[in-house]
Amino acid sequence: MHLTREEERMLDGEYGEAVRKAMELIVSIGEALGAERLVPITSAHVSGISVSNIGAEGVELIEWFARHGGRARVRATVNPMGFDLDGVIPRDPREWSLQERLLRALSVMGFHLTLTCAPYEHGNRPGLGEHIAWAESSAVIYANSVLGARSNREGGIVALAAAITGRIYEWGMHLDEERNPRVRVTLRGWRPRDEAEAGLLGALLGLRVREVPLLEARLPGLEEARSLLAAAAAWGSHALIHLEGHTPERRACVKCEKVEVDRAELTAFHEEHFDDIEGSDAVFIGCPHVTIDVMRLVEAYAEKCGGFRIPVLVAAPGVCKLRPSAQNLVILRGTCPVVARLESLGFDKIATNSLKAAFYLPRRHGIRVAVADAKTLLRYACNPRSRA
Ligand code: F3S
Repeated sequence: MHLTREEERMLDGEYGEAVRKAMELIVSIGEALGAERLVPITSAHVSGISVSNIGAEGVELIEWFARHGGRARVRATVNPMGFDLDGVIPRDPREWSLQERLLRALSVMGFHLTLTCAPYEHGNRPGLGEHIAWAESSAVIYANSVLGARSNREGGIVALAAAITGRIYEWGMHLDEERNPRVRVTLRGWRPRDEAEAGLLGALLGLRVREVPLLEARLPGLEEARSLLAAAAAWGSHALIHLEGHTPERRACVKCEKVEVDRAELTAFHEEHFDDIEGSDAVFIGCPHVTIDVMRLVEAYAEKCGGFRIPVLVAAPGVCKLRPSAQNLVILRGTCPVVARLESLGFDKIATNSLKAAFYLPRRHGIRVAVADAKTLLRYACNPRSRA
């Protein structure tokens, strides 16, 4: 791999032990992938910062980088952790103390403790053509598809090493030709009406399409785009989908394979994989983390109904200042219910508008899932005995 003089000096340890180790990691992965050189990045986003994921060894590794002078050279943020900031989800004291150590080490290194999977809403918003190293699948696909920035789906520790060196290997989504659409997706006589349907479509694309798709259908808005993208990344391995009206890069679909999705397929997928909303113990909104518009919607329903009859869990960024303002409204700040110990809250069935949550909740927590759009979920939470 060709390295610049400065990159060689990093690798030789002239910038300290942490930079040397981080550079070694980036270069060895880049060489294994066949990358010819590194590119400077403008932003990093690190995931996998839950103690339940990385354990004590992971915490010690990140502390090692902090102790040996590792500092973020670029704008750098972190994903949600395994605990919410307000202690709604019970904390095991040993795990919580490890989590606090981890947050301290990240903070010493200059990472902003945004604790969100939507960093682009909270100060880490790269622009068109910027090379970045992000490690949260829903954020990566949003950055590539909506912002036009360039990131592969990195692992957490690789994103950390990229933040410390300010470099990532030039491979995959960083290369112009890899970003061309290869599959043209059309919808026969329909389009998603809300974020839940957009998520169902995203899940189908995740399962059916392997290469970069171009969706020839306009989604109602950005919330639907976010939902579709997060679902496609969770149910498949996508890092980029070209979306009409959202993707800033204009790319022609030359010799594209064609895929058609009809509404009957969407309905069959929904019925086959998910429960009916009736009998749900709780509603979950905020995967990816809730936006201000959706939060306003939740609060409007809470006010109209005089509080909810069943818990409405809303996952929000750690930097969010909101506090619950209604009965049964539970704001989970800074955490991701998929990695948190959600089972300790005792729910059997959760209704959500997120197809990413619907993918992970049964697999991680054995919780049954119903899927519907946010308005339907909130009406149900207002009055679970009437049909939503
Ligand atoms: Fe965010 Fe967790 Fe969903 S990281 S995208 S709330 S699975």
